[in-house]
Amino acid sequence: MPHLAIISSSVRTGRNSNRVATFFRNYILEKKYATVEIIDLNEYRFPIFDERLKYQKQPTPQMLQFADKVIHADGIIIVTPEYNGGYPASIKNAIDLLYDEWHRKPIAISTVSDGAWGGNQVITSLQFSLWKIRAWTVTAMFPVPKVEQTFDENGVPADPAGVHKRADVFIRELLWCVEARKLMNEKET
Ligand SMILES: Cc1cc2nc3c(=O)[nH]c(=O)nc-3n(C[C@H](O)[C@H](O)[C@H](O)COP(=O)(O)O)c2cc1C
Repeated sequence: MPHLAIISSSVRTGRNSNRVATFFRNYILEKKYATVEIIDLNEYRFPIFDERLKYQKQPTPQMLQFADKVIHADGIIIVTPEYNGGYPASIKNAIDLLYDEWHRKPIAISTVSDGAWGGNQVITSLQFSLWKIRAWTVTAMFPVPKVEQTFDENGVPADPAGVHKRADVFIRELLWCVEARKLMNEKET
């Protein structure tokens, strides 16, 4: 069974996008799509970027743990809010920290906002940064508009049927890339 990681990007006091990360974790487990864990950037609270992990003389245990979790994830879902038309510094901070760890990593992006457009202005900038660092960005999208109304604190969607249908398409696309990467890795070894 593949192993997925969900990066919950928001470190904002009173954050709401973490509801979507919680939903994905619960739904993936319920459907037995994969084993899964949340990588919560609010727990890591990395300092503002200083240098890439591989060049740091004394990396913190948290940085090493974060790298380990990224390495061991077969695929990743990034849940990110939209702040002023872009993604929060917390996720850029975490992306820049690593390098080879992202190589060919299938990554699907779920954007979140409290407005009507589901944070979809984030998608191009985040995809571009992930492309630059040689991750494999998955084309499926999962925008979440009006997050406070559409998901409760426990990640339960207000419209389960509609959300599950969209989540299935999104997760299956990610899992297709995970499987393709596995097959190619086997072929190359
Ligand atoms: C600094 C800041 C900037 C924001 N800018 C936008 C924006 O450009 N577009 C939008 O739709 N929502 C915007 N919002 C609303 C957020 O998308 C909404 O608060 C969402 O819940 C943020 O995720 P979080 O609660 O996990 O931090 C902004 C919120 C903050 C705090």
